[in-house]
Amino acid sequence: MTSSLSPVTETVTLVPDANWWRQATFYQIYPRSFADANGDGIGDLRGIITRVPYLRQLGVDAVWLSPFYPSALADGGYDVDDYRDVDPRIGTLAEFDEMVTALHEAGIRIMVDIVPNHSSDRHVWFQEALAAPAGSPARERYIFRDGAGADGELPPTDWQSIFGGPAWTRVPDGQWYLHLFAKEQPDFNWDNDEVRADFRTTLRFWSDRGVDGFRVDAAHGLVKDLTEPLPSAAQMSATNVPGRNRLFDRDEVHDIYADWRRVFDQYTPPRIAVAEAWTDTAERRARYASPEGLGQAFNFDLLQAGFDAVQFRRIITENLALAAASGSSTTWVLSNHDVVRHPTRYGLIAGSAPGEAAEAAEAVDTAIMQVGGREWLLAGGPEDQLDRARGIRRARAATLLELALPGSAYLYQGEELGLHEVSEIPDDARQDPAFFRNKGVEVGRDGCRVPLPWTRGGSSFGFGDAGAHLPQPAWFADVSVEAEEADPDSTLSLYRAALRLRRELESEESLEWIETGRDDVLHFRRPNGWESITNFGTAPAPLPAGRVVLASAPGVRDLRGELPGETTVWLTPEG
Ligand code: GLC
Ligand code: CA
Repeated sequence: MTSSLSPVTETVTLVPDANWWRQATFYQIYPRSFADANGDGIGDLRGIITRVPYLRQLGVDAVWLSPFYPSALADGGYDVDDYRDVDPRIGTLAEFDEMVTALHEAGIRIMVDIVPNHSSDRHVWFQEALAAPAGSPARERYIFRDGAGADGELPPTDWQSIFGGPAWTRVPDGQWYLHLFAKEQPDFNWDNDEVRADFRTTLRFWSDRGVDGFRVDAAHGLVKDLTEPLPSAAQMSATNVPGRNRLFDRDEVHDIYADWRRVFDQYTPPRIAVAEAWTDTAERRARYASPEGLGQAFNFDLLQAGFDAVQFRRIITENLALAAASGSSTTWVLSNHDVVRHPTRYGLIAGSAPGEAAEAAEAVDTAIMQVGGREWLLAGGPEDQLDRARGIRRARAATLLELALPGSAYLYQGEELGLHEVSEIPDDARQDPAFFRNKGVEVGRDGCRVPLPWTRGGSSFGFGDAGAHLPQPAWFADVSVEAEEADPDSTLSLYRAALRLRRELESEESLEWIETGRDDVLHFRRPNGWESITNFGTAPAPLPAGRVVLASAPGVRDLRGELPGETTVWLTPEG
């Protein structure tokens, strides 16, 4: 972690610490929805530059920047036209350099998203592949196959794309190409040496520009076994063996990351990486976090759990053990650009855990969406099925618990404001391919990607001078940065206080559980004496001895020895 927060104007010199990431707080910026400096309705790099003081005051150690590359936005930028440039609607390479300098001078590191499983269909290589004949070297960089049926008129297999619909699309000469996501996202062929070499060039390109690390999109994809005969989807799932699945999490994928590690280690400090890897088991996920590979992997277990002490304890214990075994530090995530924001998940009356999804969806008329094969509840049902205040209360408690854990925490823009999912987006304003490819089934991920509210009023709540590219609801006024900065009990004030204390209280990467005698109360102590206690239930619990340094519940001034329901408190030793 960086040294403690200095005045917002003073330039910080980052020390080249190879372990800076281990317990860092990362803040995910979804650039098109963060801040729009030129008033065209789309967030941009200049917008980020102007908000560096905000990030510094928030107290984050690093920014993770979601894709900012040229893109037709078939999948919010995860369809990349050119891996070594900036989308002209977002900025220029010169502005990128300026942003890196501004962040570094504020003591904030930067990690960029890299999307190696697929490019966009506008990538120069895919355009070349389309123009070239079947069997040509240009087609070899992607996955082209002849179709089934008498005239090849059927897709080679019945595989479904993760966003719904077939995973194969036919090109004019009759061949089909594979896309595990949208049809605008053709999968690369990672057996091709040119593909491998090009990604090494891309990693160097950004590393040379001062980028500190990479978030690796769909890291469990890339290597596929497409030996004939290709199995059907049903055969694939019936014969699934971790490590030998035809499409995901194959053992050979780690050769690629070992190769990347050699690139990362040529820099001082070494560039870091975190894998987005959806695997069958937590143990398989830990392989991506090996120091010989990417070094860290997202742990989405808390994000998939309900607000439940038993689940939280099991997940924390298991992941700390896995991190220790892999040599990495663990990661914690409650929200990101792919899921329903955690205050909304926790506020759905019918429940929020995946197991409860079907039942809850029926009860509240929400939709369920699938991302990476997981189910998520999407708010969209009647407002009376969402207890907003309770959702925020629980979210604040969960966040404070998260920020007291060993390891790194990945925050998603807007969660520091306690934003709820935006459910009131009309169909004709939606952008997510998961919505279009699953008409009537999924509402998609736009509800967590609505441009941030910076001010109470004004055009687009201070996001920019014109509108916002996704409609913002009226309730954004009260959860704007301006409104929350003025309120010591706001979620923003809580995050600022928590992140400041988290730096001050940094401890070794372990914890000790303290038994509370209650299944719904979790209490742990870090090696330096810092304690966190969370009451997941509604009945008050006794508050242990110690000095209360922070409480998640708004308006709590005097706890009088009592820990209220759905609240987390941080304690330090008395005296
Ligand atoms: C990852 C991203 C998601 C994207 C998908 C395809 O899951 O987080 O937003 O749609 O990969 O690139
Ligand atoms: Ca703009």
